[in-house]
Amino acid sequence: MPLLVLEGIDGTGKSTQSKLLAAALRERGMRVTSSREPTDGPYGTRLRNSATTGRLSPEEELQLFLQDRCEHVENLINPALEAGEVIILDRYYFSSMAYQGVRGFDPAEIRRANEEFAPQPDLLLLLDLPVDTALERIGIRDGEANKFEQRASLETCSEVFHSIKDDFVRVIDASQSIEDIHRDILSVVLEVIN
Ligand code: ADP
Ligand code: TYD
Repeated sequence: MPLLVLEGIDGTGKSTQSKLLAAALRERGMRVTSSREPTDGPYGTRLRNSATTGRLSPEEELQLFLQDRCEHVENLINPALEAGEVIILDRYYFSSMAYQGVRGFDPAEIRRANEEFAPQPDLLLLLDLPVDTALERIGIRDGEANKFEQRASLETCSEVFHSIKDDFVRVIDASQSIEDIHRDILSVVLEVIN
């Protein structure tokens, strides 16, 4: 069964759409596993905490995302694929290409290292939204952008996401209403699944 990935800069609606997609597929009788990166495991928790307790060095951060993902692939992603479930991921190794790319690493090299152990998705849904609109949404949510979320960095992240040109990439217009984005995503997903 397929591995579906939602990517996009902070505030594009990935977690909102991930929930709606999971519910819609379950309604159609599919077995769905949803997850996210960074995970809630030990490495992921350290990464999340670093946003508030102080930024890790670029090397440490790159390494921790890789370790978190290794564990994720081994403990959740591969078992769910083998069990024939639909998997929905809110972020995956394309986020490392974008965000660790901003911190000075080569996105192509990051991709190569990840694809040594992480399966490629069947569908990469890239939620596309201008950075300013994304920041407005986060502002409403969080009060102010945290250290991960500075404007110039997000512009570069967005460029890296858009540089990924594989056949499994579908760009979704995330400036629409929540319902319209969901409709677009569901139609692409059903096309790929059926
Ligand atoms: P992400 O997981 O990509 O960071 P979220 O799903 O958490 O994004 O959404 C960020 C914020 O924007 C939340 O407050 C959410 O309610 C709001 N939001 C999500 N989708 C839309 C949309 N299409 N239009 C307006 N606001 C949205
Ligand atoms: P999270 O709290 O999930 O943010 P959001 O809900 O806004 O997506 O934190 C994820 C942050 O981690 C986000 O700013 C992107 C960053 N990140 C990386 O830098 N590299 C990665 O490989 C991943 C998966 C996330």
